[in-house]
Order: sequence, then C-alpha cells, then structure tokens
Amino acid sequence: MATPSDSGGSAGAPVRTIRVDGARLTITGPPHATLLDELRAAGYTAPKASCRRGECGACTVLVDGRAIMACTTLAVLVSADVTTAAGLGAACDDLRAAFADHAAFQCGFCTPGQVVRAEAVLREDLHRSRDEITRAMAGNVCRCTGYRQIVDAVCAVAQSRGRAVEAGS
Ligand code: FES
Ligand code: FES
Repeated sequence: MATPSDSGGSAGAPVRTIRVDGARLTITGPPHATLLDELRAAGYTAPKASCRRGECGACTVLVDGRAIMACTTLAVLVSADVTTAAGLGAACDDLRAAFADHAAFQCGFCTPGQVVRAEAVLREDLHRSRDEITRAMAGNVCRCTGYRQIVDAVCAVAQSRGRAVEAGS
C-alpha cells in the first residue's frame, strides 16, 4: 500500500508516485487498489470510506482540480495532483466558516467530501442559481442535515466570492 513521503520511494517496489496535498505519495498497492484505498492506507483520513461504490460522495477529492469519488477510481490511473479536504488550504476558509455559520453539518462524516465538492462547484462557476448549486451538490449524501443548510452555505460563499471578484479583490 501507499506510504506518504517527501523524498519519494519506499521499501519494496514502488509502482509510481503522485502528489497528495502537496506531499509525495508512492503507490505500491495491487492494480485493483482504489485511490481511496491508497489514501486511507497512507493516513489521509479526510476522504471517508463509506459506501465504497460511488453512491455517497464521502470520499470526494480533487484530481487536477476536478471533484471525483476516490472509491471508484483506480489508483494506478491517477497521474495528476490529488487534493483532499485537508489540503484545500486557506483559500477554502470561507467555505469552512460558512458550513459552521449555517449549521451545515451535524455528525460531520460527510463534511470533508461536501466541502471538496462545494469548492469544485464554486471554482467552476460562482454564478449558479440555488437550484443549480443543489443539483451540482446532489452526488454527496448527508444523513443528518436535510441538505438545506449545506446549500445555504455554498450559496453564501458563491455570493461573497462573486462580490469579491466584481470588486476586483
Ligand atoms: S465512499 Fe466513495 S462514494 Fe461513497
Ligand atoms: S453531517 Fe452527518 S452525514 Fe452529513
């Protein structure tokens, strides 16, 4: 399985190396290992292992800026940078704050995946309607909140980032 490394390589025969949250990750697992398997084995706990079949979005990560479900992605097919919720950095602080302000989580299990999906949705387009944001977030399941608060949070950040863009900041 994968090991996080800043120097590359590991004991055994590394298959390949990718970057995850800015650090090097050497993938040594079997060909059928998913990206989620490799991330979790290497200690990246932000992507959650829930349904493991592409139905809940708890494992959502960015691959080269695009939101994907890590449980349905073979690790050997990933060649671009991977970003988990933990690696989104300060650029996403407004989104994290909005989730808190709008009570957009309860147990929090789905939240890392929701935040990653929301960040991808916002990067694509800050001018979506509420209905469009609701549809864009629909692949990420939440057992607790009823979704309205999650959409409230994403809409609030879309508006605030949109205002900042218009103001040229
Ligand atoms: S754990 Fe990947 S979609 Fe549910
Ligand atoms: S906050 Fe509990 S599953 Fe979403």
